[in-house]
Amino acid sequence: MIKIFDLFAGIGGFRIAAEKVFKNKINIKTAGWSEIDKYCQLSYNSNFINNGNYFIDDIKKITSKNNNFCNSTNYNSIKKKEFIKDNLPSFDLLFAGFPCQSFSSMGKQKGFEDERGALFFDIAAILHSIKPKYFILENVKRLLTIDDKKTFRTIISILQNENYDVSWWLLDSKDYGVPQTRRRIFIYGSLKKNKSNFPIDPPKISKKVTTTKSILEKNVDTKYILSKKILKTILKDGSGGYYSKSEIDLEIARPLTRTMVKMHRAHQDNYYSNKFINNEKKLKWIRKLTPLEALRLQGFPDKFYKIAKRNNVSDTQLYMQAGNSVTVNVVEAILNHLIDHGWFK
Ligand SMILES: C[S@@+](CC[C@H](N)C(=O)[O-])C[C@H]1O[C@@H](n2cnc3c(N)ncnc32)[C@H](O)[C@@H]1O
Repeated sequence: MIKIFDLFAGIGGFRIAAEKVFKNKINIKTAGWSEIDKYCQLSYNSNFINNGNYFIDDIKKITSKNNNFCNSTNYNSIKKKEFIKDNLPSFDLLFAGFPCQSFSSMGKQKGFEDERGALFFDIAAILHSIKPKYFILENVKRLLTIDDKKTFRTIISILQNENYDVSWWLLDSKDYGVPQTRRRIFIYGSLKKNKSNFPIDPPKISKKVTTTKSILEKNVDTKYILSKKILKTILKDGSGGYYSKSEIDLEIARPLTRTMVKMHRAHQDNYYSNKFINNEKKLKWIRKLTPLEALRLQGFPDKFYKIAKRNNVSDTQLYMQAGNSVTVNVVEAILNHLIDHGWFK
């Protein structure tokens, strides 16, 4: 039995993938999860059975008792370790997609987030205290290069010092069966004493090529169609024309963003026309993605959307949640790859 902790759970992209991949292969149980955003909690709780699972909204309540926030010098303190061990359940596999934060700017800026410290150190504190056999962490590509690569180096060396074999892959969602360009780093590790076969090669790229044609809905509410007024702003500039194929109707969508609900210019977001969707000759309308399509671009099953809607999660929240989540297909590919290398026995 592999017990999992879903940290920074969002809407459970890691968990959906794990429940699918491990099914009929390896027994798993979600020992606990943590997510601070109440709308993410609603989507997550609607879609997963959480009876008796440990839950904490703000992980800092556990890792940073009395506002003693985690940083590079205290994450492995004995006090923290004792408190975390007493309060979190034990588990074997940690999932965590965490915000990209530069360590060198910590403390210099007075922002709330900075005062609370980088969330990576909360991960480090948990690994130090619970010592799960495995972890998979996700982050944006930029984490590799900020602060002249110092932040990334620090992360890897802390993980290694915690006695893990550690490596990372930069993977693009479009290579794993969803039509979205989305480059993310996945840092993975296994406790040295496990002696697991440690793969360096990335998960095999999917042979199946999918395009956005396969995820776009044919008939949608007119509210998704852009008004003439907004069209002008959205399609302005770019390659010059009012309607430019290089800007909209992309077969492989641009990276979804958390803020896609706010509508950006066409060179940042994804817009589609009747020409592309319905194979029509004449341009009649251009529309934005629906929340269902956004979730599909992250590999979520349609039932996830239906259940969230039934539980009153708004379109706005669903766009943000989809833009923030990990691509389910990529996690599936990683887990399958690791199982093939003898992990999780
Ligand atoms: C990059 S997202 C991870 C998304 C997730 N992997 C998914 O598939 O949806 C990071 C998540 O961490 C949550 N978060 C941020 N600070 C937190 C904290 N202190 N405690 C718990 N969750 C937190 C955010 O609300 C956000 O949903």
